[in-house]
Amino acid sequence: MNKSEAQKRIQELRKQIEHHNYLYYVLSKPEISDFAYDLLMNELITLEKKFPEFYDAFSPSLRVGSDVNRDFTQMAHRYPMLSLDNTYSEEELRDFDKRIRKIIGDDFDYVAELKYDGVAISLSYEQGRLKHAVTRGDGEKGDVVTENVMTIRSIPLILHGSEYPSNFEIRGEIFIPKDDFTRLNEQRAESGEEPFANPRNAASGTLKIRNSSIVARRPLDCFLYHIIGEGLPYESHYENLLEARKWGFKIPDFIKKIHGIEEVMEFIIFWEDKRKNLSFNTDGVVIKVNSYLHQRQLGNTAKSPRWAIAYKFTAEQCATGLLSIDFQVGRTGAITPVANLEPVFLSGTTVKRASLHNADQILLLDVRIGDIVIIEKGGEIIPKIVAVDYTKRPDDSQPFRFIESCPECHSTLIRREGEAAHYCPNESGCPPQIKGRIAHFISRNAMDIGAAEATIDLLFNKGLIKNVADLYTLTENQIIQLDRFAEKSAKNLIESIHSSRKVPFERVLFGLGIRHVGETVAKKLAKHFRNLDNLSGAGYEQLITIEEIGDKIAKSIIEYFNDPQNITLINRLKEAGVQFSISQAEEAARSEKLSDLTIVISGTFRNYSRDELKDLIALHGGKNTGSVTSSTSYLLAGDNAGPAKLEKAQALKIPVLSEDEFIKMIT
Ligand code: IVH
Repeated sequence: MNKSEAQKRIQELRKQIEHHNYLYYVLSKPEISDFAYDLLMNELITLEKKFPEFYDAFSPSLRVGSDVNRDFTQMAHRYPMLSLDNTYSEEELRDFDKRIRKIIGDDFDYVAELKYDGVAISLSYEQGRLKHAVTRGDGEKGDVVTENVMTIRSIPLILHGSEYPSNFEIRGEIFIPKDDFTRLNEQRAESGEEPFANPRNAASGTLKIRNSSIVARRPLDCFLYHIIGEGLPYESHYENLLEARKWGFKIPDFIKKIHGIEEVMEFIIFWEDKRKNLSFNTDGVVIKVNSYLHQRQLGNTAKSPRWAIAYKFTAEQCATGLLSIDFQVGRTGAITPVANLEPVFLSGTTVKRASLHNADQILLLDVRIGDIVIIEKGGEIIPKIVAVDYTKRPDDSQPFRFIESCPECHSTLIRREGEAAHYCPNESGCPPQIKGRIAHFISRNAMDIGAAEATIDLLFNKGLIKNVADLYTLTENQIIQLDRFAEKSAKNLIESIHSSRKVPFERVLFGLGIRHVGETVAKKLAKHFRNLDNLSGAGYEQLITIEEIGDKIAKSIIEYFNDPQNITLINRLKEAGVQFSISQAEEAARSEKLSDLTIVISGTFRNYSRDELKDLIALHGGKNTGSVTSSTSYLLAGDNAGPAKLEKAQALKIPVLSEDEFIKMIT
């Protein structure tokens, strides 16, 4: 393929892929299989690698994010981001309607929308391309999170058609759908990370991650609800939103143009009930006056427009009896109290259990067995106990005492300083902890051994495995003797265990299940220390100098390697042939040529992607940072390097390196 053919094909592929993104992420009507989509994407990535001169920051291949860490800069909103007046009462809503009719008369339309429960974002587009994405901040200025927002597939980077204004802002809500949220929290629990309290927290936390390649793996989505600018096609809100849908924006189907307060009430009553069936959380309804002329007549208060109001649904609550409290033991030994309730119907499901979080929560509410408690289903999936009806408390009720020993192995529980949870310290002898650790070790992102949780239970209960190292001494004969296992499935399991010996070090490290060492941290540690001996010998001071490794992670790593049982386990895994160092190829390429140097990367490069350059810097002992400061050694600048960075480098007399000069330095 020659250069001009490649350019043509690259453009074609980018268009096709964005079209399929739109069908899949905006319309939810995919026309091709995931496999066919992957083929297109792979072809594009290969061509872009081969012909880097056709780099384009808006290519769909770059929606995977970049792992350059960045501090967010702030930017003033061209139009302030107002908030909405809230009400929970029909009466206040009717007052709102009366006030409006007094000013603009009766001849106007309302637009009724759902209130999406996420994080507000303002997107600005220039000449049909996404320019900036800024959070609400204080309403006047917010954080620039463009790179993170560009990973959200349902947000168009380049608008469809040509009928859009050359310069406008569109605002909306970034959120995580309910099912994706459940899955995200399951994954977090699996890797020992603290689960998010609700989808809104997960969305806002994700948006502030300083590494867009992690953001790209989170299931963010975005509904748009407000468009501002000059030269908009219509003089009204509803009609402009429908136009914006044609430009590729995800404008929800639930918006409705209606007339009069009675229709407003109908809309509210309908969604108050039907919202449980939605795939995302909504905490109310937003009512807006449609015509811009009317909106201008009504004006704004300091904080919110007078032409709109949010009617908030009250979180659904009900009262029920508390029968008992169970305690669950997680993989890390954390104890979670769970309330067993008199079954009760709430927001579409029968609730029998509710979470009580921790001992403090129980103490705070003074919850007692036999109490009538108020439960609530907010944004959270599992209902929680929010109050106790003390008037209904039986006379003989006794304060509830949090357990002192583990319900599974009876060890005395501990509570670490600064942590809310109680822990069972018997890591090596407490069955749910052992089984949880084995399940984590074999999970897909760790050793990827194909065994179901039931198989682990079976192997553990029969005494065939007591820890992850025992997996490697299992024989086909032992497995065949278990219920449900035939020769073929036993063979498969053994083969799967055998193949896991090739799994790279970083995944092995993740699989060990060291507290607070999730996938990303494991990757960082593997890259930095290269092998387990270096890591286990590292002291606190050395650990915390590594980017993203803080006090909590450092202490946890040291604690892990101070336990002789862990050392024995690792030695057995080593003997079994599991990888405890990075591959020889990577090791051979390593040097110290950049040691003590701090290098900032900016722009695009001919031979390497920014991620590859970042890896090269680390491989040769250097450090990569995001912004030019007096401690920067070099600015590695490619095409279109940031002018601010270049200027700063010049001002601070920091040498600027070209790609070729950099390559010379390391070879
Ligand atoms: S309109 C000037 N419409 O609610 C108009 N806001 O409490 C401003 N929100 O900051 C907002 N769904 O983050 C509007 N359909 C919707 C909305 C919505 C959710 C959020 C938004 C806003 C907050 C105000």
